[in-house]
Amino acid sequence: MNKQKLTIIGIGHVGSYVLSDIMKLGLFSEIALIDSNENISKGEALDQLHANPFTFMPNTKVFSGTYQDCADSDLVIVSAGASIVPSEEEKMPDRALLAENSAKIIREIMANIVAHTNNAVLIFITNPVDTIVHIAENEFDYPAGKIFGTGTMLDTARLKRILADKYNIDPKSITAYMMGEHGMTAFPVLSRANIQGFKMSEWKDLFESTEIDQVSIKNQVVQAAYDVFNGKGWTNAGIAQAVTTLVKAVMLDERSVYPVSTTLRGQYGYNGNVTLSMPCIIGRNGIEKQLEIILDEEEEKMLRESAAYIQNIMSSVGA
Ligand code: 2OP
Repeated sequence: MNKQKLTIIGIGHVGSYVLSDIMKLGLFSEIALIDSNENISKGEALDQLHANPFTFMPNTKVFSGTYQDCADSDLVIVSAGASIVPSEEEKMPDRALLAENSAKIIREIMANIVAHTNNAVLIFITNPVDTIVHIAENEFDYPAGKIFGTGTMLDTARLKRILADKYNIDPKSITAYMMGEHGMTAFPVLSRANIQGFKMSEWKDLFESTEIDQVSIKNQVVQAAYDVFNGKGWTNAGIAQAVTTLVKAVMLDERSVYPVSTTLRGQYGYNGNVTLSMPCIIGRNGIEKQLEIILDEEEEKMLRESAAYIQNIMSSVGA
């Protein structure tokens, strides 16, 4: 029987929000939940089953599962990993600090996944996501393209929001994205940004606003994560919608173009030695094609800085 099945590994603040958003897509007949604490996956499954009666969504079978469930899953989402507990002095530190613990957890998870499948598309959320995707893609024998990370999807959403607020327009009317690391060194590709075809040089007059400052916009995007995290203690709504957008693109074979975290295979002169976000076509097989967009001089410089930063984190965990 051809059933659409999803497995989510890691049912914390992010995994549970991802589940809740995905349930509303009505794309899956079965969703298996795996968490290091089985009581959490059992409770979350039951809670979602209690939500279904008052919706018009299909009667999706949500349950606490095991890695066996990866065997017939179309898609596996991994959000398990080390987490940061905010404290007064220790506001959200660099995601790089999570690398050692997350790398250990992901190596265990990937070993369990590949023991049951090499067919499911795997989407990684776990921070530091670029290093995590590099480990998953390059330390295990798994079909190229079927593994990628959320990367700068969330940073891109924040960029669109910041530009939309600055020019008082719908963020969905903005074509712009972030590349590089999901983190401090992510950068906006403003040389290619447009608002329904109006290029950046036209925005100030058209939308009666001030000149755009690339460095300021970049810093605002990076700071946005800290503002959310230091406010509520974690972030989950934004990343969950980013994941849901990618899940739809995979399951419906949309062939949408999104910035996701992937190991570069020759692009920008990197061949297998760095993983970062670049525009990719996303479809039923995961990454259908990596799109090497030509960057301007400043953007090229920021890409190299971001790649070097990620490579430092990678080498700190032997990736
Ligand atoms: C975020 O950017 C913490 O990586 C997470 O919201």
